[in-house]
Amino acid sequence: MKICILYGSPRKKNTYAAVQQIKERLRLHEEVEFVEYILQKEPHDFCCGCYTCINGAEEKCPHAAHVQPVIQAMRGADGLIFATPVYVMDMTAQMKAFLDHTGYFYMVHRPYPEMFQKSALVVSTAAGAGTKDANASVVRSLKHWGVRRIYSCGISIFAPGWDAIPASRKRKIEKRLDCVTDAFWRSLGAKKRPTMHTRLLFFAMKQMQKRKKGTGADATYWKQQGWLDGKKPF
Ligand SMILES: Cc1cc2nc3c(=O)[nH]c(=O)nc-3n(C[C@H](O)[C@H](O)[C@H](O)COP(=O)(O)O)c2cc1C
Repeated sequence: MKICILYGSPRKKNTYAAVQQIKERLRLHEEVEFVEYILQKEPHDFCCGCYTCINGAEEKCPHAAHVQPVIQAMRGADGLIFATPVYVMDMTAQMKAFLDHTGYFYMVHRPYPEMFQKSALVVSTAAGAGTKDANASVVRSLKHWGVRRIYSCGISIFAPGWDAIPASRKRKIEKRLDCVTDAFWRSLGAKKRPTMHTRLLFFAMKQMQKRKKGTGADATYWKQQGWLDGKKPF
C-alpha cells in the first residue's frame, strides 16, 4: 500500500502530530509506504497563469520540475493525505499554490483516470475556528480531480500546542482521528463506485466535450480515453 502525503506547512507541530497518528494507525492495519512532500521545503512557485498546462502541455509548465514529481507520486499512490494548518480560515498558501497547478486535470479538462480509483483524507488543525472551511477548500479540488472517496477531519486545538491539549480532550481527538483513518483505510481496498456527485460531474463534462466537438487538447484527450464512446474511468 502506498500513501502520498502533502503537508501544507514545514512546521512540524500540530498538523504534523495529527498526521503522525494517522500514519501509526494505518501501519496497524498493514505495511504502508509513505511518500511525503512538505510543500514549502520543496521548491515551489505560484502559478503564473500562462495556461500552458490547461492548453495541453503540463510538462512545459515553468514550474513542472517542482510540481510534476508531486503529481506523479500522487498518481502512483493508492491513497492521498492532505494536511494543512488553518491560516486565516483556510488552507495555507503553500497548499493552495500547489493546488493551482492541478487545474489542468480537473474533470472539466483532462482528468487522470487513476484518480477515480483513489481515496483521500484531508486533515487540518486550527487554534480555534476554520477547519471546516479549510477542509472544504481542499475537498473541492479533490472532487474536481475525480477522487473516489474523500474523508476529512478538522481539529481545533484550543491550547497553546498539541502537547498542551488536556488529556481527556486529546483522547477524543485521537479517537476521531482513528475513526476517520480506519474509514479511509477501508475505502482503499474497496471496489466502490465514485460518489453520485463525481459520476454526475463526469457525465456533465462528457456532454460538454461532446457538444464542443473540438480539436483542442481536452477534446483530443477525452476521445483518446474512449470516454466519448461510452468507456468510463470507474
Ligand atoms: C498566519 C496564521 C493564521 C492563522 N489563522 C488561524 C485561523 O484563522 N483560525 C484559527 O483557529 N487558527 C489560526 N491559526 C492558528 C493555527 O491554525 C493553529 O495553531 C494550527 O494548529 C497550527 O498548525 P501547525 O502547528 O501544524 O503549524 C493561524 C496561524 C497562523 C500562523
